[in-house]
Order: sequence, then structure tokens, then C-alpha cells
Amino acid sequence: RKPITLQRLLDMHAAGDKIAMLTCYDAAFAHLLDTAGVDALLIGDSLGNVLQGQETTVPVRLEEMVYHTRCVARARRHAWIVADLPFGTYHTSPQDAWHSAMQLAQAGAHMVKLEGGGWTTETVRFLTERGIPVCAHLGLTPQTVTALSGFKVQGRDEQGAAQLKAHARELVQAGAQMLVLEMVPAALAGELTRSLGIPVIGIGAGAECSGQVLVLHDMLDVTPGRRPRFVRNFMQGASSIQDAVGQYVADVKSGAFPAPEHTY
Ligand code: KIV
Ligand code: NA
Repeated sequence: RKPITLQRLLDMHAAGDKIAMLTCYDAAFAHLLDTAGVDALLIGDSLGNVLQGQETTVPVRLEEMVYHTRCVARARRHAWIVADLPFGTYHTSPQDAWHSAMQLAQAGAHMVKLEGGGWTTETVRFLTERGIPVCAHLGLTPQTVTALSGFKVQGRDEQGAAQLKAHARELVQAGAQMLVLEMVPAALAGELTRSLGIPVIGIGAGAECSGQVLVLHDMLDVTPGRRPRFVRNFMQGASSIQDAVGQYVADVKSGAFPAPEHTY
């Protein structure tokens, strides 16, 4: 297998070949996931919840994202590496966002991800024009979960759906080359996947997306507490972690995951 490039991801989207993505925060799992055929590794700021035990992703710091990105980048062989810009590191100006994104790029990220639409458009243009690929993240945006009054499906009513579509189109025009859609109705995610021209990676966004992402610890069932509806426990019926991750890749590729019970 050759290292995955941005062009390869765009080609996979165009061909309807599903993209399997998982979060990853360290070298051991980067090696395991890469070997199992995961196409893209996301150093998600979900590490605030999963590794640090925080209530939200808001307290996650850029230096922490840089550290985990370095750990993953050292072990990866094939997968595309996406790293989250944490809360507050891209909000004040495109210039500030550049300094934050550059640190992630220097740590080994191929692409940075940022949450929100509208106010982020100018920043996405600034970064992409200067050579840092950007993944946008719309729908449920965990960094602003307090302002959203909790984890709930986004874009359900006509007005919300229209706004989400407008934001997505603007972000693509500004140069975004991937979009994560979290907790949105499957029909809306399908429509965007068919119309935007870039890979749309869903988490709680139905099976019609170009690919899927889950938090690693959620799909391995090591996250304490209740699992969100869109998560499947891939350890069920698996003989090892390698086996569970292999099943995830196979089920994303075949379209077996997500099933209707994981979808809104
Ligand atoms: O931080 C994260 O894990 C994410 C994914 C859930 C998309 O942003
Ligand atoms: Na995130």
C-alpha cells in the first residue's frame, strides 16, 4: 500500500469507495490502525474526554494536540493524518489560526480540522491558500456544546438544514477539502455528499457519506458510561482489538456500518 494522499481521498470519494477513519492519539494504536487498513487517522480533541477525563473538549490545549500528533505521526505508514485545532486556537483571526495550524503541520498533521461555519470561512481560505489542507466540521460541534445546550441532532428543521448547506458550500468554495458531519439526519448528509465534490465523513450522519469516523475508545467499548446512538461496539464478537478494527474497516467499506439503528 502506498501512503494516502489528498488526491487519493478525493478519488475515493468520486469513485464511491468508502473512507474508513478513526481517532488515534498514540503510536501503538497508529501502528495497529494503519496496519488494519484505516485510511485516515484523526488526532481528535476528543482526547480531552477520552484521555484526560474532561467534561468537554474546551480545556484541550494546542501543545497537547501537538504532542499527540507527533506520537501518531511517528508510527503511521499509510494513513492520512488529520489533527484538530482545539478551542480558542483559530477563533481570533486567520493569522492566529495559521500559527496554530502550522504547529500541527510541523508535528506531522497532513490536514487540520476546525469546527463551525460562516465565521470560519475566511480562516479556511487563509490556511488553504497558504498550503495547509483543511477539514471542516459541521452539525454537532463539540467545542460549542454548551452554546448548543447539549448533544442533539443538528439540521433537523428546514431553517437549520438550509443554514448547514449554505455553510458547507461556502467552506468548499473557500478551499476546504474534507467535511466531517456529526449528528445530522442521514438524508441531509446524503444530499451534501452527492453535491459538495469533497469527501464527507459522517459520525451519526448515515451511510450515504463518503466515509465514517468514530472515536476509537467508543468503538472498542472502553469509554465509560452510555454510548451515543451512532456508536457500534466492534469488540462484540471480535477476538482481538486488531480483529475489531478490521471489522470496522470492512463494514465501512461494504456500507454495513452505519446501520439504520445508528442513524438519525
Ligand atoms: O475529536 C474528535 O474525535 C472528532 C470526531 C468525533 C469527528 O472531532
Ligand atoms: Na474534535
